[in-house]
Amino acid sequence: MTSLYPGHFISFEGIDGAGKSTHVDAFCKLMQDRFPGKEIILTREPGGTALGEQLRSLLLDAPMNLETEALLMFAARREHIAQVIEPALTAGKIVISDRFTDASFAYQGGGRGLSIQKLNELEQWVQGRADGKLLQPNLTILFDLPGEVAEGRRSKVRAPDKFEKMDLNFFDKVRQEYLRRAKEDPKRFYLVDATKTPESIWGDLQAIEIKI
Ligand code: TYD
Repeated sequence: MTSLYPGHFISFEGIDGAGKSTHVDAFCKLMQDRFPGKEIILTREPGGTALGEQLRSLLLDAPMNLETEALLMFAARREHIAQVIEPALTAGKIVISDRFTDASFAYQGGGRGLSIQKLNELEQWVQGRADGKLLQPNLTILFDLPGEVAEGRRSKVRAPDKFEKMDLNFFDKVRQEYLRRAKEDPKRFYLVDATKTPESIWGDLQAIEIKI
């Protein structure tokens, strides 16, 4: 995608336990070293604003109707775009988000079965701009691995949230939808083989060519 903004937007994605959280902080530092004149914003979804963080607590804990869940994810995203992402990109900053819309396709669509058509409509609504173009990450780093490997890696220390409690079949479907999105937009996605060691994955992340 040719950049719609002076800034640069990077999202991190993957099923729970893929290891993205291990790398996202180090990746921000790497970007700061590479682009010392640029301000880096690290944010997350659901969340990223005061309202978004309140919605996150509800979304991660309260059981709810599937469409309610999708609408709240996108409501949090709309606020995130309006308050944080779009102003930062307009000001030329680098925005790194721990998850974005691909997670809604993967979890609410692939995992829970919401129709892709409805998700497409929500994406158009929430990310659509006045000029008809769509705000999308310039780059999405997808940590890909089988559900059973991820299951073994998920933190046993803290209590699992609503999504982390789901079974293998759910995570396989989440993974497949991530891969379908990646295939649909191969220029935006960078796939990381998350079965590899953290050192090897870090090597891959350092090798990504980022054109700003
Ligand atoms: P996650 O990003 O994994 O944070 P943590 O590492 O603190 O657990 O948790 C967010 C959860 O929300 C994750 O299970 C995926 C889910 N999610 C959706 O279901 N849909 C979405 O649109 C987003 C952004 C996240």
